[in-house]
Amino acid sequence: MCGIVGYIGSREAYPIIIKGLKRLEYRGYDSAGIALYDDGTIKLSKTKGKVEDLESKVQNEISTHGTLGIGHTRWATHGIPNDTNSHPHYSNSGDLVIIHNGIIENYESLKNELEKRGYSFKSDTDTEVLINLIEEIKKNSKVKLGKAVQIALNQVVGAYAIAVFDKNKPNEIVVARLGSPLAIGIGEDEYFIASDATPFIEYTNNAIYLEDEEMAVVRRHKKIKIRKIKDDSLVSPYIQELQLNLEQIEKGGFDHFMLKEIYEQPHAIRDTYRGRLLSDQAIIKMAGVEDNMKTFLNANRIIIVACGTSWHAGLVAEYIFENLVRIPVEVEYASEFRYRNPVINNNDVVIAISQSGETADTLAAIKLAKASGAFVFGVCNVVGSSIARETDAGAYTHAGPEIGVASTKAFTTQITVLTLIALRLARAKGTLTSSDYRKHLIELEMIPEKVEHTLSSDSLVKSIADIYKSAQNFLYLGRNYNFPVALEGALKLKEISYIHAEGYPAAEMKHGPIALIDENMPIVVIATKKGHYEKVVSNIEEIKARKGKIIGIVTEGDTSVKNLADHVIEVPETLECLVPLLTTIPLQLLSYHIAVMLDKNVDQPRNLAKSVTVE
Ligand code: AGP
Ligand code: GLU
Repeated sequence: MCGIVGYIGSREAYPIIIKGLKRLEYRGYDSAGIALYDDGTIKLSKTKGKVEDLESKVQNEISTHGTLGIGHTRWATHGIPNDTNSHPHYSNSGDLVIIHNGIIENYESLKNELEKRGYSFKSDTDTEVLINLIEEIKKNSKVKLGKAVQIALNQVVGAYAIAVFDKNKPNEIVVARLGSPLAIGIGEDEYFIASDATPFIEYTNNAIYLEDEEMAVVRRHKKIKIRKIKDDSLVSPYIQELQLNLEQIEKGGFDHFMLKEIYEQPHAIRDTYRGRLLSDQAIIKMAGVEDNMKTFLNANRIIIVACGTSWHAGLVAEYIFENLVRIPVEVEYASEFRYRNPVINNNDVVIAISQSGETADTLAAIKLAKASGAFVFGVCNVVGSSIARETDAGAYTHAGPEIGVASTKAFTTQITVLTLIALRLARAKGTLTSSDYRKHLIELEMIPEKVEHTLSSDSLVKSIADIYKSAQNFLYLGRNYNFPVALEGALKLKEISYIHAEGYPAAEMKHGPIALIDENMPIVVIATKKGHYEKVVSNIEEIKARKGKIIGIVTEGDTSVKNLADHVIEVPETLECLVPLLTTIPLQLLSYHIAVMLDKNVDQPRNLAKSVTVE
């Protein structure tokens, strides 16, 4: 999610906020806006596009005086990127304004209730619902803004970092967080509010990081008070003295965006199923699937079109859909599909997968499929992107901006969305019993924690990277669900360390690649307990007989591979179709550490672009 910035004190707020929004630019966004208080009025300007577009719009739209203000860079989740959906949002009365990072999952039910009470909405966002809920509570319960925010947030399900102010109370800003970050910079009789410390580090290095379910009323000339949203209990503020420099803060303290994004995966996966996976009620809610259920269930086959890592996610989906939904699936490189005059029938369903939503080959494949009468469903990470707009329906991954060119959290959140779709269709088709269905839902909810646990093997992976960083070639082998993971692991290594690597089905080795194996060849073998484990163990024996160096990715507690391999990295046990969400983690870390040790440009590897919008 993107960026929030606020200021209250004695300086002019505008330059601080604009510069702060630019400092958050690295987080990627689609629109920006600002609201300033000055002499009894709120001046608000917002626009689709970059902060510099906001700057030029502001110059012609509002005066920029005022010592109280809030600013926002948006990464849309509800409502396409356009001026109206940009933040800040007014309440109906025009007295209150809000900026918000996150997702209000139950916004529809709240919106319906507010509409019954006469509220109207200008935007399609969940955020505008929240500010009007706060207004309704403030008006009805005759409470102060802080209390109204607190009551409202106890009715909200979702994630938020918000800043709100009331033009009738211009000496305070109310802030709160759950799931999205919020830092408060403590200056000399002035306060700064931001998603991280980059917007205020030049003014103060004293900061409070709100914890989840905490809120604060930040008042001029007053000490800050922090409360628990749930029970209103006071929290003693812990003021940190930040030692980080600007660049380190941008990367959340990580050395590279790629590593930050690898570590964000538990959060990104949780954000992606949040509001869609309700395991206690054993239901999956995805409007794009529900509205097109008959089309999916009557489909003759599913054709998946994508490129690169997204194509690997499509391969994982092939195993998931064929196993769970029993529907034929074929996975196509979009760049090949679009030119090979494919046979497409109007009862085919095409699923297009793209992180950026702008990949030219994938967009062209979609247009070809639509022209042939197929229904096209999109899985994208960027709301309102070209592919999201071109497809007939879709489901977004909520990975947040992925800055590193090498896809990591995009891959695992794509698999998460595709798994949710397959489970929903399997339930509707009856190819999955209700107990197995529930088992999958519960296990999918365990995955973020299991990813977290897998990340704890980072230092072991780093030590293995150090041994093999000078290898000229790598082989990655896997079977079944782990075959696409082997391909993805090889791609990760190639694209950031420039070492040649190939992914293969483990059984395919004896049809040629085994000739490559000698004592200089490291072979990564994904040998988890699921997916023809015994066969993979025999493949490992074949490698060992030829003195290959074996790095095994195994299920926790494995002993057979441990006795054969030179190194093993353990991942927790999980259901077969969810294994890729775990086995890909050590491979991401391995490629990252080797690339760093080889002093490569990890976040912007040579010759590559984050989004290939050319053919
Ligand atoms: C993977 O790490 C690369 N960044 C690249 O293969 C990427 O997956 C491919 O270009 C597709 O991009 P998209 O998901 O934005 O369509
Ligand atoms: N859900 C809000 C929206 O779509 C906030 C998105 C964000 O975090 O930028 O406008």
